[in-house]
Amino acid sequence: MPFTQHHLSFALGSEIKGLDLSQTIDQPTIQALRKALAERGFLLFRNQDITPEQHIAFTKQFGELQPHSLDHYLHPEYPEIFVVTNRLQNGKPSETRNTGREWHMDLTYTKTPCMGSLLHCKEIPSAGGDTLFASLYKAYDELSDGMKEVLGKLNAIHDFANVSDLKNRTPESVKHLVEKNPPVTHPLVKEHPETRRKVLFFSDAVTSQIEGFSEEESQPILDFLAKHTTRVEFTYRHQWQINDLIFWDNRCVIHMAPPDYDRNDPTEKRHMFRTTLKQSLA
Ligand code: SIN
Repeated sequence: MPFTQHHLSFALGSEIKGLDLSQTIDQPTIQALRKALAERGFLLFRNQDITPEQHIAFTKQFGELQPHSLDHYLHPEYPEIFVVTNRLQNGKPSETRNTGREWHMDLTYTKTPCMGSLLHCKEIPSAGGDTLFASLYKAYDELSDGMKEVLGKLNAIHDFANVSDLKNRTPESVKHLVEKNPPVTHPLVKEHPETRRKVLFFSDAVTSQIEGFSEEESQPILDFLAKHTTRVEFTYRHQWQINDLIFWDNRCVIHMAPPDYDRNDPTEKRHMFRTTLKQSLA
């Protein structure tokens, strides 16, 4: 199926035009999309008025879905969908209203972080509610050779308890989530399995310490990595439109959603559906 691809920023992101995601996409096109995704880090599809079933079916064309390890707000009829929303849930504030407020890759606080996520925009506030993305390829490429060598030998601890959003949750919810997600380690430098390019695998939200280093020794390195991975020239900021769908590659991109739109007006609503793909893909 023919489609066109336009770069969205210098560092990352492509808009894909010409595909209707409510339809089954043929395999050669899926493979071409996979290639574009791995190279550009995320793909934007606009005007996709799709149902949850169609969203799930499109995701499955790329592989197996990953059940979300945070079970605090899955869609009641479609548990494959993680709902990121500030709409009230059963009369109470939604547990996902502050999801993704810091730079992160999805699920790196688990042993097998996901391959990618597909976020579909259902409702947007009158202003704000954007999502920012940054390229971990560029973050690696722009390190000095000396720093590449040092970081290439290190592992980092990823700890869900580090996420600042936990302070907004109930003590029971925090206990449940932290017990379910004990700290894990990942190399600081990884190779993308499809492009074979190196990435700096760092998440400001959950990377809590360098393995084998004290907290005091780790902190200056983490501070440098937080600043470096989000240099403005490595980023793209997306202003959502209803029925945008963004598919990001969690293996080479970090993202974050700034907490801006409902600060002064809690009636401003942002409502998104997310599917998640398992890592173990060809
Ligand atoms: C996420 O981090 O998965 C959600 C990002 C967003 O809501 O923009």
